[in-house]
Amino acid sequence: MMELKKLDIYNPEHYVNDVPHEAFSLLRKESPVHWHEHPDGGGYWVVSRHEDVVAVSKDFNTFSAQRGFVIVDDLPEDILKQAQGQLLGMDPPNHGPIRRAVVKRFTKKLLAELEPKIRKITTDILDQVDSRFETDELSCEFVDDLAGELPTSVIGSLLGVPRDMWPQLRRWSDFQTSASDPDIGGTEEETQNASTDMGAYGYQLAMERKDGGGDDLISLLINVEIEGHKVTESEFASLFVQITVAGNETTRGLLAGGMLELIKHPHFYAELEADPSQLPQAIEEMLRWTCPLHYFRRTATCDTEIGGQKIKENDRVVMMYSSANFDDSVFNRPMEFDIHREHNPHLGFGYGIHLCLGANLARLETRIFFEEFFKRYKSISLEGEPKRIRSNLVNGLKYMPVKITRR
Ligand code: HEM
Repeated sequence: MMELKKLDIYNPEHYVNDVPHEAFSLLRKESPVHWHEHPDGGGYWVVSRHEDVVAVSKDFNTFSAQRGFVIVDDLPEDILKQAQGQLLGMDPPNHGPIRRAVVKRFTKKLLAELEPKIRKITTDILDQVDSRFETDELSCEFVDDLAGELPTSVIGSLLGVPRDMWPQLRRWSDFQTSASDPDIGGTEEETQNASTDMGAYGYQLAMERKDGGGDDLISLLINVEIEGHKVTESEFASLFVQITVAGNETTRGLLAGGMLELIKHPHFYAELEADPSQLPQAIEEMLRWTCPLHYFRRTATCDTEIGGQKIKENDRVVMMYSSANFDDSVFNRPMEFDIHREHNPHLGFGYGIHLCLGANLARLETRIFFEEFFKRYKSISLEGEPKRIRSNLVNGLKYMPVKITRR
């Protein structure tokens, strides 16, 4: 039996074999707002129940995203300043105007127009894979060869970033999200510089496209007026980093994790293959289950309480999405993966004013990916044990050897 006192959900090592579901379940039951030690000598509150995660997300006045950014580790002052230029690290009143400017570019209508473009990107990626078949079967690595290509290509293409820079975009964003995994993170210097280098590149693109009349997302964002002022080049540089980083590893995690569950549940695979119109509901379950980000953090702006637990001003508060998504007071049989789940208010995209801006884009990419995959391939099976990313933040696979058979 696991004991509360010994429980450690900070150590990234404890995410390597699986999501620490046993620890999360114990927390929800015994200590839903739990004081957890941090290796920096301090500590932080872990909020594990669905209801409390929603309450913290909603109350942006008391729980600030800006004061200490959204990662549990405190950032050095200069890096914190940069991070506060990202939407994710802004509180009102800074947050609203910038968010509204970006939202305009991500409407349902605009996304519908993007569908053919994303389908073409997807079929191009699958064509690449097809060119490697020597017989009707191909052994490949799903995470990098298939799942990883799509999000980077979609974002690169949306932003109008030259194609030869796409692999660099992916490296920069991986360095920032998976520094704790020795197979993915770069050298210490590369990791430290990734955000600045990427921001500088975004800045350069913004300068080139200012007043240029282009219709890529960079040109649209850099030339938009937000309540009287244009997005500045440095605001844009932060947005560029955020949009690119936010959409890469998360969507890759969803595609690979979603496929792994379908491989493990062949009857669901067969159902979706026969009737892809069920994909939207299945994708919500993939989001609940794979929950590509374990948590985001807030910082208390005053003395307060959560679920009866007293919290002091400046305390760190972690909203544990990958626990909330398995809370049995909200989800029926939460430990079962069920593509027919009806009531599914998962928190995979967060909640409240910071709700993921790319949510519908990620859903669209995932639907198109599975539709095209089913059309082209007859089957997929595992050829070895998948490996998970060593991280307490990013919940995903880094390696999944598969065999695919073409029709
Ligand atoms: C499966 C894929 C994805 C997942 C699981 C995911 C998850 C999240 C989460 C949990 C948040 C924070 C919500 C909160 O604090 O309440 C967020 C915010 C955000 N995401 Fe995503 N994301 C995904 C894909 C994308 C994509 C494709 C893009 C962009 C193209 C994107 C752009 C953003 C932005 C800009 C924000 C900040 C919004 C704000 O602060 O107002 N995300 N995402």
